[in-house]
Amino acid sequence: MNAPPYVVVPQYLHEPGLGMVRDVARVEYWPEESVMPREKLLAAVATADGILCHPPARCNRELLDRAPRLRVISNVAVGYDNVDVPACTERGIIVCNTPGVLTDATADATLALMLAVCRRAIDNDRFTRSGNWHYWTPRLLLGQDLTEATVGIVGMGRIGLEVARRVRAFRTRILYHNRHRRPEVEAELGAIYVDLPTLLAESDFVCLHVPANAETRHLISAAELAQMKPTAYLINVARGAVVDQKALAEALKAGRIAGAGLDVYDPEPIAADDPLLSLENCVLFPHVASATLRCRQRMSELAARNLLAALAGETPPACVNPEVLKN
Ligand code: GLV
Repeated sequence: MNAPPYVVVPQYLHEPGLGMVRDVARVEYWPEESVMPREKLLAAVATADGILCHPPARCNRELLDRAPRLRVISNVAVGYDNVDVPACTERGIIVCNTPGVLTDATADATLALMLAVCRRAIDNDRFTRSGNWHYWTPRLLLGQDLTEATVGIVGMGRIGLEVARRVRAFRTRILYHNRHRRPEVEAELGAIYVDLPTLLAESDFVCLHVPANAETRHLISAAELAQMKPTAYLINVARGAVVDQKALAEALKAGRIAGAGLDVYDPEPIAADDPLLSLENCVLFPHVASATLRCRQRMSELAARNLLAALAGETPPACVNPEVLKN
């Protein structure tokens, strides 16, 4: 009988994924909230057939060079910028992600950020607790409307589409920019395809839903922020590197845009002295867009199915470098 595969799970993993993997493989499990220390991880992968990890585990060439038996990296996330995919492909290592199961939770979190920033949810909460609320006043903590706003969606993939569906209920005008037009989305939602400058100039909310890669790095930097309306908000639940964070802090500080709602940063966690932390016109979430129990359970299940299929020589449900499967 063949020995069971050996799998490294270098961070707490929800059920049912963990149990599914343990049923089949010998597992080196690091059950902490923080990722396994780097040296330990590099030692653990030396004989690993598979890694089932979250975005904090950097699967770069340094790690791959230490993992000669590795056949699959199953990332518990839809984004996979923590994995050097070309280096994996060169080595015949299958890389998998978890699209679909986190779409709704991430779209909900986008709406949470939009409403929080435009209706000043954090300021309102702080003020109510401060002891300074002495009477009802007509101009107290005025915000702006999402209802009937123009919402610009950059990246009309699964998550962008679900955000568009949600904001449509607010009678918004929806603009979108994407690598290619999506006539079915235009038909369903009346979304209008525009170039990025038009989207930036006309939107009251600019929502980012693109993957992080060389093309999207600093897609929104000083020049793009300057094209936005001074009353507009930037919402980023994609990846920190899509925005030039320093330029964003400067634009927020100078009031060149009205505010931002962010879930992602570059680097993560955000540095303790990052200027964003002292600005009041932004709402900052700690990369939690998929953080509901149901969503995390579904992500763990899909990641486990990906990993186990790859180890069994079958086609995983969600593979990001399918060219490897051909060999
Ligand atoms: C989370 O950030 C993900 O990519 O799923």
